Amino acid sequence: MDIYGADYYPEHWDKSYWGNHIELMKKYGIEWVRIGEFMWSVVEPREGEFDFSILDESIQLLKDNGIKIILGTPTATPPAWLVNKYPEILPKGWDGRVRGFGSRRHYSLNSKPYLEYALRITEKYASQYKDTVDAWQIDNEFGCHGTTYSFTDADLIAFRDWLSEKYESIDNLNKAWGTVFWSQTYNNWDEIVFPINTPTFENPHQMLDIYRFMSDSSIDFLKMQVDIIRKHSSKPITHNFMIDFMDLDYRKMAQFIDFVSWDNYIATEEYDPLRQSANHALMRSLKHQPFLVIEQQPGRVNWRQVNDNYAGEYLGMWTKQAYIAGAMGVMPFRFDQIRFGAEQYHAGLLDYAGRPTKRLESYSKTKEETGGIVNQKPEVAIYFDYENEWMHRINHLNRNFKYWDGIVEIYKAVKKLGYNVEFVFSDEDIDDFDVLIVPFAFYIPDNFIDKIRKFSGAVYMTAMSDVKDEYNWLTEKMPSHLIEEFGIEVIDFGAINIQSGILLNQEVKTYYWKDEIEVVDAKVIGAFDDGLPLVTLKNNRYYVSSVLDNKGWSLLLTESLKPRIVGNGCEVVNCSGGTRILNLEEIEKTIYIDGKKLVLKPFELRIFDKR
Ligand code: GAL
Repeated sequence: MDIYGADYYPEHWDKSYWGNHIELMKKYGIEWVRIGEFMWSVVEPREGEFDFSILDESIQLLKDNGIKIILGTPTATPPAWLVNKYPEILPKGWDGRVRGFGSRRHYSLNSKPYLEYALRITEKYASQYKDTVDAWQIDNEFGCHGTTYSFTDADLIAFRDWLSEKYESIDNLNKAWGTVFWSQTYNNWDEIVFPINTPTFENPHQMLDIYRFMSDSSIDFLKMQVDIIRKHSSKPITHNFMIDFMDLDYRKMAQFIDFVSWDNYIATEEYDPLRQSANHALMRSLKHQPFLVIEQQPGRVNWRQVNDNYAGEYLGMWTKQAYIAGAMGVMPFRFDQIRFGAEQYHAGLLDYAGRPTKRLESYSKTKEETGGIVNQKPEVAIYFDYENEWMHRINHLNRNFKYWDGIVEIYKAVKKLGYNVEFVFSDEDIDDFDVLIVPFAFYIPDNFIDKIRKFSGAVYMTAMSDVKDEYNWLTEKMPSHLIEEFGIEVIDFGAINIQSGILLNQEVKTYYWKDEIEVVDAKVIGAFDDGLPLVTLKNNRYYVSSVLDNKGWSLLLTESLKPRIVGNGCEVVNCSGGTRILNLEEIEKTIYIDGKKLVLKPFELRIFDKR
């Protein structure tokens, strides 16, 4: 990796502490910092009164010591004076209530005064620091704390404009939204409102457009800031994406930034290292380029119900895991640990007294093993689409099913066989891959349907795929375009909780959804316990008519991929320069790779079969 650094908050300290911080950065090889992303009231303490002295001095000191800087624009924290002057800046939540001042991200993306002041402070940052800094971060975690969605008057006006541009006439909208259902027909754009606090289910076609519009609002705001920075600076621009986060179409957003960054925290109740790995893969896949972990959980956090500590060595392992996923760098959040503020319980690389911790030591040691960038070989492609995630949220047959969680399970099954996964999007070439998986893809655009047909390797498609159009209507026939390709037709379906089946002579479990399929021209290779087809095969096209468990996916994928590894608890990545194997656990692990036995020490990273 090229970027060893940490997130740093000089404004939280009296200047007399900065020297110690910088000495320790240098001693432990911290060469980059990200700073400045929450400093609005520091640099503009009162309207129009700018004071850059703290930023100027800290930037100068960091630079004098050879430390590179990513500067974040401070727009996630509009100051009290601004919110008091224009209370309409505050967003409204799903319950229609205003979300107040007193934490962060308290702004509506469509508020005119907010945009005016936010772009002004962005311009100030950009013109003050130009190319003095080495990279830029826009805002901080768009959408965090449920802030993708806001329903103020300004948001509604912007939504109506967005709709009129998309549909051109109100009749087109009425048709697309099926407004004849429950008497929702509109005569003009001004009659459209957000379906807030409705007695029951909202219009599913309208909901999809709301999700699209809200995602576009964040993207538009990002673009406005990017345009301003580009006028003043030639340095690369990024934004910090989040784990398991599906509100924003990150694929679309990624087009407007120079590199993808993301914040790697454990977001689920249980820690599952392969879920982190799936997120690394998704982030890499957004541009199919090296990405930066711009915030890395250092140990305990502060925002869970119960904030466990992690031994310092975990940070080393998390860093190595990002590296084998193709990261260009990892920056633990945060360098300095502080005694005050909403994140006073959050771990840092230093302790409360400013002394180095085991976390810092463990992170610093990874430098010896993580040089260069790992390039994964294209092996298994999984089709992914943020809009499909939104369709799954709306009006579902089985509300317990979650699109991304379903995909993570398939990801894990592929990884456990020892193969790489890249996520692919509809506009991309997929010829280089050996296997294509199309999971739970309600709507598949025509261009990707063609790619599925032309793909020479094995294709696995599951239930809930190719059964909707872009407006979120169900299609007449299912799958809509691929009956001939897979040799089956879905003639009915229903939700299930759990059901058993036999696949390739072994018992498996299936969940959530069950298709009743008519086999037109395919072999049945798996059946539900009531005899209905569970998996069919035509040429090398597999159709899975439910949500299969991990064992089921392993069996199925083994038809096309010879398992490389036996044993678990390790992550394997096949890349130029040899196979990387990382022991994800705090205990010694034995695994067999291509028939050879390897014993790995806790959290050890090993290169096997160096070529
Ligand atoms: C991130 C955020 C940081 C900090 C961190 C705490 O979501 O970007 O500013 O709050 O969480 O874990």
